[in-house]
Amino acid sequence: MKKITVIGTGYVGLVSGACFAEIGNRVICCDVDQRKIDLLNRNEIPIYEPGLQEMVTRNKEQGRLLFTTEVGEAIEASDIVYIAVGTPMSETGEADMRYVMSAARKIGEHLNGHKIIVNKSTVPVGTGELVREVVQANKKYPWIGFDIVSNPEFLREGSALSDCMNMDRAIIGSDNPEAASVIEELHAPFKTKVFKTDLESAEMIKYAANTFLATKISFINAIANICEKVGADVEDVAAGMGLDSRIGGKFLQAGIGYGGSCFPKDTYALAHIADKAGYEFELLKSVIRTNQKQRFVIMDKLREALGGLAGKQVAVLGLAFKPNTDDMREAPSLSIIPELLKLGATVRAYDPIAAEAASKLLPGDVQYAASAEQAVAGSDACVILTEWADVVSMDLAQIRESMKVPVVIDGRNCFDTAEMERRGFIYYSIGRRPVNRLQEGRKSVNL
Ligand code: UDX
Repeated sequence: MKKITVIGTGYVGLVSGACFAEIGNRVICCDVDQRKIDLLNRNEIPIYEPGLQEMVTRNKEQGRLLFTTEVGEAIEASDIVYIAVGTPMSETGEADMRYVMSAARKIGEHLNGHKIIVNKSTVPVGTGELVREVVQANKKYPWIGFDIVSNPEFLREGSALSDCMNMDRAIIGSDNPEAASVIEELHAPFKTKVFKTDLESAEMIKYAANTFLATKISFINAIANICEKVGADVEDVAAGMGLDSRIGGKFLQAGIGYGGSCFPKDTYALAHIADKAGYEFELLKSVIRTNQKQRFVIMDKLREALGGLAGKQVAVLGLAFKPNTDDMREAPSLSIIPELLKLGATVRAYDPIAAEAASKLLPGDVQYAASAEQAVAGSDACVILTEWADVVSMDLAQIRESMKVPVVIDGRNCFDTAEMERRGFIYYSIGRRPVNRLQEGRKSVNL
């Protein structure tokens, strides 16, 4: 049993804290946000993540997990202090390090004995050393020592608990082998591969991994766009490419591009880090541009299907950046819906979980429906932005029947092209073979 404090109860901090408690450690999760801590103390979880509420409640009841705003006391009561605060994107595209630095100051002020300070936030290379300087400068007792470790997080929203409990690797970066061994020991119950390296390389691994995955997505989206022009099918192309074990079949799902709290922020941040280091990362800049443009392929397809959008009613299915989360950060819906409204369409949206979060960010004239079927009824077109299970399994016969014009623009390739055609939809998806019956379909609905 180790005594751990996790500073920051955002996504990463809360999930890691709960999982460390789950494997038998005593964990104090702290945050300066009183509202969040109050919620957590009432067993209410500020984010939507399947299974998290049960895990938090269970570990709280067994006395292994505590929540507090008393960051100083929590630091003093622990041997390992994890920094898991946010590193949002600043206006320049750089990671905003304000919260990391303030956590480091606090740790220095409350360093009452040797501690291992572990960075879990995604931070530019060199931050570990910076944290070391800040802790050193704020120490009250000069004779007390500490170690710095980088232990980046790779969990995905929506499957965060199983990603954490069954992690496929732990990256541990430190210049002190003893500190690295303690963190390795902490990970033993996860039965995972441990890769130990220096501080800077561990920090770089996180950025390199995320930007590589983002590159895979932009690459397959570019291939999808070409497939449409030359009559190839991106799903077959991705499947064929993926058979090469050097490429691998994962993260080759064409669509409207990546969103979320990590890929957009980390791609910008690494491009910035490279620029600052005197290297122009042209490839990554192009990945970012490709992703920014990709969400608007939806608009081109809508225009092709409907002509103009003025006066048209469009159903938007899925608002979150991906299924099983209510996270709206960098969600494609946030750019697509205002564009639809600007072109004169009315929008009725549906999302099983993220609708409330979305309504705070989207223009007030968006209407919200209680189901996919309700959103689609009477519409001139339906646009699929997130592949939620209840969107993928919606009643297609009812949908076809209730739409004024059966145009479906599927930004996530949820349905089989041939089946959609057979059911009489005018179906557009991403990078798949042109809809053979498009002309026939158009005639039959008198477009
Ligand atoms: C990602 C990384 O996977 C994780 O390791 C890191 O710690 C944080 O960032 P997350 O943002 O939760 O996790 O979601 P992920 O499932 O990776 O998807 C990111 C985005 O890429 C989503 O918008 C998703 O729709 C998109 N995506 C993913 C594709 O468009 N195609 C794919 O093949 C895979």
